Amino acid sequence: MKIKVVSEDITAVQTDAVVVNLFEGVKTPGGATAAMDQALDGAITKLIEHDVIKGKLNEITTVYSFGKIPARIVAIVGLGKQPEFTLDKLRSVTGEFCRRLRKLNCQRVATIVHGAGVGNVEPGSACQAIVEGSLLGLYQFRKHMTKKNEDKDIEELLIVERDAAKLQLLNEGCTRGKIIAEATNLARDWVNEPANYLTPSELARRAEELARLHNLSINILDQEQMEIEGMGALLGVARGSQQPPKLIVLSYKGNSASSKTIGFLGKGITFDSGGISIKPSEGMGEMKGDMAGAAAVIAAVAAIAQLKPRINVTAIAPATENMPSGNALKPGDVIKAANGKTIEIETTDAEGRLILADALSYAVKMGLSPLIDIATLTGACRVALGNICSGIFGNSQELIDQIVKAANETGERLWQMPMYEEYKEQNKSDVADVKNSGGRWAGAITAAQFLAEFVGETPWAHIDIAGTSFREKESGYLPKGATGVGVRTLVNFALNSAG
Ligand code: BES
Ligand code: MN
Ligand code: ZN
Repeated sequence: MKIKVVSEDITAVQTDAVVVNLFEGVKTPGGATAAMDQALDGAITKLIEHDVIKGKLNEITTVYSFGKIPARIVAIVGLGKQPEFTLDKLRSVTGEFCRRLRKLNCQRVATIVHGAGVGNVEPGSACQAIVEGSLLGLYQFRKHMTKKNEDKDIEELLIVERDAAKLQLLNEGCTRGKIIAEATNLARDWVNEPANYLTPSELARRAEELARLHNLSINILDQEQMEIEGMGALLGVARGSQQPPKLIVLSYKGNSASSKTIGFLGKGITFDSGGISIKPSEGMGEMKGDMAGAAAVIAAVAAIAQLKPRINVTAIAPATENMPSGNALKPGDVIKAANGKTIEIETTDAEGRLILADALSYAVKMGLSPLIDIATLTGACRVALGNICSGIFGNSQELIDQIVKAANETGERLWQMPMYEEYKEQNKSDVADVKNSGGRWAGAITAAQFLAEFVGETPWAHIDIAGTSFREKESGYLPKGATGVGVRTLVNFALNSAG
């Protein structure tokens, strides 16, 4: 879809559909909606009088213009109560109206910059939210469908603003939104991709492709190099699989004057069968998405490379399958991570923390700081928070606060979980330094406490996206399937941290 910002009169644009808005409770519309109402001989005010249009959030009313304006369809979208309006609501409503207009066979759509005239919404950010909402909301994963889609794609979205003085701000927001949404959709593609296509080697190949495209440096550790690094935990998990493991290290250098580099780490289990502690088969297919953390960190660095903040960021993604076999890790086994700590395997299904143990040790050795890892780590986090927010944990309140702020600005929600010392008890082993499961209770927290064993004193935060990486139902700008969660938060964190 092409997206363009243009300075025009919304009642005169030549597209299939035009989109105006209404806040809840408003009886006489103003601005562009008033101009549209006039062009339609008062149709909008009449529909308001008849209570057809209420302005409730995500309400979409479509009326036909019957030649009164060039566009065939006028959509009036509800923005909810004006004081409660946020950029994330704008993102959601945009996703909704774009999908609706696609269903109505509109290939060219024009919209005004909703909410830009009110409250504390800055026009550039509003434009960014519209671009993100449209690209994210229209996303589909149809790669493996041999039949063409019945609904044609929207080919062009025009963002229409009367005031030419605002165009530069709007264009900047448009570019930012495009880069960020496209990176999020890239992460979604990888999470949705079946595991027989997206193996660790294929993930590494795609990361290399991105590195070439955006001039990033990349280093991919293979099995031999992992052995040299003493990565017994990652190699342990990989042992049961026919697919060789890869550790992807992707770096963006935007500030050569600084020796500081932020580390983003992402869990890259391309398929989690549970291993010898095998999962029930129902719903196991969802575990093709157990590399959502890896996809998020790689896609985030690709977006950062295009936005070019003055900062250095390195993404590390340990990638392997978790499979049962005669050669696989077994409950009761003891392995040694790259930082020298020994781990007793309580269950082979707690594999994410194992591969992250080596990745975190490696990041510490590289001197990266602060560290942020993101992982579909525990079913317990999904039980606790559902698909509304991800869990955040860590050893630095300052870092956690910065990440939560960055997340809130993008509409991705994070909820901090406690890290009391007492929880560490549950990870104690009789035969090794730690064991890889603390049992059923507080499973998301004991998993985070396990990771803490491998970061030393480095400021670190862990984001558990087991509940938020995948959706069963579409809503707003989140379609069914992979959400691409984390990309927008990590990118925004990097932008906020830039000097
Ligand atoms: N990948 C899973 C966690 C998961 C569950 C992600 C559901 C997305 C949706 C992880 O590797 C896992 O199996 N965790 C176990 C840990 C337990 C055995 C200590 C879990 O949560 O049950
Ligand atoms: Mn598992
Ligand atoms: Zn897993």
